[in-house]
Amino acid sequence: MDKKSPFQQVFISMPINLIKEEGLNLWQTGYHTQHRSRNAQGWHSLTLYGEGPYITLGGDYGDSSKYHWTDIGKRMCPATVEWLQSLPYKELYRARFMFLEPGGYIKIHHDKEPEEAIGEVVVDDAMNISVTQPNNCYLRQVFKDGYSDVPFKEGSAFFFNNRYFHYAENRSSEIRIHLILHAKWHFLSLRKCKLKFIKQNYLNHGNELYENKERLNDVIENYSPDLSSYY
Ligand SMILES: [Fe+2]
Repeated sequence: MDKKSPFQQVFISMPINLIKEEGLNLWQTGYHTQHRSRNAQGWHSLTLYGEGPYITLGGDYGDSSKYHWTDIGKRMCPATVEWLQSLPYKELYRARFMFLEPGGYIKIHHDKEPEEAIGEVVVDDAMNISVTQPNNCYLRQVFKDGYSDVPFKEGSAFFFNNRYFHYAENRSSEIRIHLILHAKWHFLSLRKCKLKFIKQNYLNHGNELYENKERLNDVIENYSPDLSSYY
């Protein structure tokens, strides 16, 4: 993926019903832990591959000899683990189930710098896979004069460019379950994004979504390139 592209769809097939069943079961039986509670509300995670089931941060920088399939992952999610193991990665760093509760949100943030090239932090861009996609639930990239949502449908996968400011929100009454994978990949079939850019000033999103409006104000220009070639 070029580093300016907001997202790209990845064409992979998956046993979505089995993965959904295993994800829902994890959620309902309480096998998950709060993730980034400082800048999120109602966000939970369970690591399938990484440093441990409840170590949900890091994983894409450190010592790969520490990474393994977690016992809970193997026991509770055999079909998901088997499917993940069949994917064409050169090296896997982390695979996690992510749960966003009804009413939950992840505040506006970015995870990399705009100039940071793919692979600079070891992994390629994160692959974000929708396991359930309730209505009124979105992963939204925020630019100076507008925003665009990743067009998830259940069972769809996207490389997500987290250099841009973004937030997620679940305004439905159902749990939103995603998988996020960090890996180095062999060839994958990709489709360039077609942005549906909605005009809205970056300061006019929900108040609960802001951590630091002043900083955002200072830097938003740098994170809002001309993306018209992606419309
Ligand atoms: Fe992020």
